[in-house]
Formats: sequence, structure tokens, C-alpha cells
Amino acid sequence: MSRQLPDFPWDTLAAAKATARAYPGGFVDLSVGTPVDPTPQVVRDALAAASDAHGYPQVWGTPGLREAISAWFARRRNAHGVDPDGVLPVVGSKEFVAWLPTILGLGPDDAVGFPEAAYPTYDVGARIAGARPVPAASTVQFGPSAPKLLWLNTPGNPTGQVLGVEHLAKVVRWARERGVIVASDECYAELDWREGVDDLTTPSILDDRVCAGDHTGLLSVYSLSKQSNMAGYRAAFVAGDRDLVHQLLAFRKHAGMIVPWPVQRALLAAVQDDAHVVEQKERYRRRRATLKAALDESGWRTDYSDAGLYLWATKGQPCRATVDELAAKGILAAPGDFYGAAGAEHVRIALTASDEQIASAAQRLTSG
Ligand SMILES: Cc1ncc(COP(=O)(O)O)c(C=O)c1O
Repeated sequence: MSRQLPDFPWDTLAAAKATARAYPGGFVDLSVGTPVDPTPQVVRDALAAASDAHGYPQVWGTPGLREAISAWFARRRNAHGVDPDGVLPVVGSKEFVAWLPTILGLGPDDAVGFPEAAYPTYDVGARIAGARPVPAASTVQFGPSAPKLLWLNTPGNPTGQVLGVEHLAKVVRWARERGVIVASDECYAELDWREGVDDLTTPSILDDRVCAGDHTGLLSVYSLSKQSNMAGYRAAFVAGDRDLVHQLLAFRKHAGMIVPWPVQRALLAAVQDDAHVVEQKERYRRRRATLKAALDESGWRTDYSDAGLYLWATKGQPCRATVDELAAKGILAAPGDFYGAAGAEHVRIALTASDEQIASAAQRLTSG
């Protein structure tokens, strides 16, 4: 294909998957971050109640939806003053990540920066636009040639690294001096495992302490797939710089990138209800504790993994050897090389399996 998209990496896991599937005690798939618990009733009811959707929905979402998202930023993200006019629902965040460089009009002269070990779609989005993908461990790496767009991902997939307020504020200052747009992908923000932090989420790029209410050049991208078990709904949103959001809106209207009406209503119900998020977080907390203890006991090292749905773990050997060892125990993990060269010795172990499956995986990990 003209844009030279990479091969879909999951195909390279076929042999390990076949081995894991043949394990007599049952297959435990910890390779993907797809939620396994039911979508909360409050969300399902909202979807069902909106099933009469004979007319076209607004690309921009209703004012009520955008106000509810603004209120969510104030309540959960310490980001007050998010202008509802600077909010836009999107068809899942993967779609948005993949198309943002194109919608911004980036091309061959432009670079798109993203973390060194990263969700692959940042790279793909740069390629779709014909721009240059640049993985970077820090902004220093860009030297004098700053990218047009810089992706942050906090908490990170696959690493679970959380970027603190100071770090984010520094990136914002750096970006503003160079006219770089910063898009921060924050879909794991509710899943913060660090001891002693308050009940807020991990810091957003729009956090008052990061940008003091000035959202110029900043976009926060948030998905309900993980926190609300809504991956099948394709429900996410972006918020921040009003002018940028209007540019995105204009493009998306022409291109028909519209969140379906029943999904917009479900999204509204989800952002107004915090209780189901707390419940889901407790499920993941238990699963994470079980798996982490098993990894610790059996001599693995876990790096970062402070938040989010994954343990970023290593046995200090090439990741594919580790994947094969796990497959022999009926467990499938994602090799770190899916996420860039920085992941060559790590595997990503997802918390998205039932309690029984997680318990079984832990037992297999510790039994030699
Ligand atoms: C960092 C990151 N961004 C975006 C997504 C896409 O989520 P969705 O398209 O379901 O909103 C994922 C999904 O795994 C992710 O890990």
C-alpha cells in the first residue's frame, strides 16, 4: 500500500497462540486489552432508550453531551473551564488517533512524535497522513526539529507509566515555544494503582496544575472502552483547544465521522455515572494484585505499571522467548516488540480476563 502501513503484528503470534490453546488446563488470553466484564446497566439502558434514531445525529454531539463531558473533566480530571464548544465525541479513540495527523493536514514535511514504547496507532496515523513517525524517549531527542504533533499517552500502553504534573507542564512549555500541538491519550486515567494518591484520576494535559486553564494547542483524548466496558460501542471524545476542535469538527462533518445517536446517549449516561467506574476498578485491582504477586514470586521484574490495564514485565531475555514460555503454560501475552524496539525484552500482560482465568494464570506462573 502506498502509505507503507506495517503488517498487522498479531499475525506473528499465531504459533504461540496455537501452543497456548492446546494447553490441557485451558487457554488464558492476556495478550489483548479487550474488556471481559459486562457493560454497566446504566449504559445499556441509555443505549436501548435511544434505539429510535431515525434522524441524523450531530457530528458535534448535543450541547448537553458536551456540557456533561466538560463537567466530567472538572469533576474527575481537575480540569476546570473545559469549554463545551471545545469538546467533540469520536467513534472510539483508535479512529481519532489514526486520523488526527491527516485531519490536521500534516504531510511529508511534518513529523509526528510519540513515546518510544507505544500503542502502534500513533505510528500508523502518521503514515496514513504521509508524515514522518518519530518515536522519542523525551522531547530532547527532537533537537532543533520539533514535530508538528506530539502524542503523549498517560497512563501509557504498554508500560503503565504515569506522567506527573511537572512533567506535563514542562512538555506544554516546550511545545508552546515551538508551536507543537500536544495530543494526550488518557484512556487509562481512572485505573491508577499508586498508593496514597487521592481518588482523582492520573493527571490530564488539561489539568489546571499543568496548563492553568489555557488549552491552546492542547487536546485530551479519552475513551470509555476501558473504564466503562464499552469497547463494542466505539465511544470516545476529545477536548481542549476550541479552534483546533472546530477544525476537526469541520473535517469530520464532511467525512461523515459521526458517533451514532444511541451511542451518544450511552456515552452521556457513562460520563454522568462514577459508581460503575469504581466497581470496575476494584475488579481490575484484584486481578492485578493476583498477577503481580505471582510474577514477583517467580522472579520476574515489572517496570512502571503504575496505572492502566497491563503489567509491563520482563525476564531479562528476548520477548519472544518469554512469550513462548508463557504459551507452553497456556498463557498468551503480547511481545514488547509490538510496541517498538524499546520493548524488545518485555511482555505486556493484560488484566482483562475473568477472576478464574487470572487465578489460573497466577497458579501456572508460580508452579515452576
Ligand atoms: C493507548 C490507547 N489509545 C487508544 C486506544 C483505543 O481505544 P478505543 O478505540 O477503544 O477508544 C487504546 C486501546 O487499547 C489504547 O490502549
